[in-house]
Amino acid sequence: MKTVAITGAFGYSGSAIAELLLARGDRVRTLTNSPNRPHPFGQTIEVHPLAFDDPPLLVAALRGCDVLVNTYWVRFKHRLFSFEQAVRNTQRLLAAARDAGVERIVHTSILKPEEGAGLAYYEGKLRLEKDLEAGGVSHAVLRPGVLFGRGDILVNNITWVLRHMPIFGVFGDGDYSLAPLHVEDFAAIAVRAIDAEPGLPRVIDCHGPQTFAYRELVRQLAGIIGVRRPIVGVSPGLGLLVSKLLNPLVGDVIITREEIEGLMRGLLWSAAPSLGTTQLTLWARAERDSLGRRYASEVGRRVKRDVAYEQI
Ligand SMILES: NC(=O)c1ccc[n+]([C@@H]2O[C@H](COP(=O)([O-])OP(=O)(O)OC[C@H]3O[C@@H](n4cnc5c(N)ncnc54)[C@H](OP(=O)(O)O)[C@@H]3O)[C@@H](O)[C@H]2O)c1
Repeated sequence: MKTVAITGAFGYSGSAIAELLLARGDRVRTLTNSPNRPHPFGQTIEVHPLAFDDPPLLVAALRGCDVLVNTYWVRFKHRLFSFEQAVRNTQRLLAAARDAGVERIVHTSILKPEEGAGLAYYEGKLRLEKDLEAGGVSHAVLRPGVLFGRGDILVNNITWVLRHMPIFGVFGDGDYSLAPLHVEDFAAIAVRAIDAEPGLPRVIDCHGPQTFAYRELVRQLAGIIGVRRPIVGVSPGLGLLVSKLLNPLVGDVIITREEIEGLMRGLLWSAAPSLGTTQLTLWARAERDSLGRRYASEVGRRVKRDVAYEQI
């Protein structure tokens, strides 16, 4: 039995990882900004603050843990948070894990960070991968491209737009690839990394078994939820402008310039064999009645800290 600390075990991927670890009898602690967020784990998870500004408290939260799984990051720059802050906070977390004697760190990065020059999200992630390597603690790096499954944002919000808008705009020709991975497949890979499974690479591309051109993904999702919409190519600038106009309607930042650029550069797709098995199209068919009924808000998740992600 291992004792595993997970940042954000009441969040999206963190909760899927916690679920697998608890099911096999591991002890789970979480370090979280949202200790009062509803979760399905009852009293089984020990809860600690994600106290980036109090390193001794961070060390105390991690002492006695065999493994730290880090999911913490910020999705974009906002008046409440920044990439610089996220890099600094993560460096403190990694240092605290080392000081606490944690034997292994499983760190979540992003697919192809070395190809994201000029994009602060990717540059921050690459920097942290290098810091982790220099830190000398046994580790694995998980590199997801995009995740889907209960409570996801991208696939859910594509279907939300399909349900609520008369047309769907794809950036440019929409011909760039992505291969979303189911969040439970991602959690299973994380558990293999926690166990340092022999033969598993240290740096793991985490993408799904189906590759889609972006336009094709939108087309398939529209068919699955049974709506017919024109799917039109728009310039990235116009697409960003329209999404900014819609932001106040949903109280969120729907997408950023950097995210559009990463998508169009093909950074959400990897040529490595997929370690996931769940087919997005099969999953979406099973979920078609509920998929995209409610907009999933990233900013909402950050400000409503005592509400479950699926309700925001
Ligand atoms: N989801 C995807 O499709 C996807 C794709 C590529 C890479 N990733 C990477 O996978 C990791 C986990 O992603 P996820 O979607 O599972 O994340 P998440 O559950 O939304 O958040 C993970 C953790 O980070 C904290 N957090 C997130 N944004 C924050 C902010 N702005 N300020 C302060 N704390 C914040 C959360 O806080 P609380 O403790 O308050 O919950 C939670 O502890 C991240 O490193 C992300 O970069 C995800």
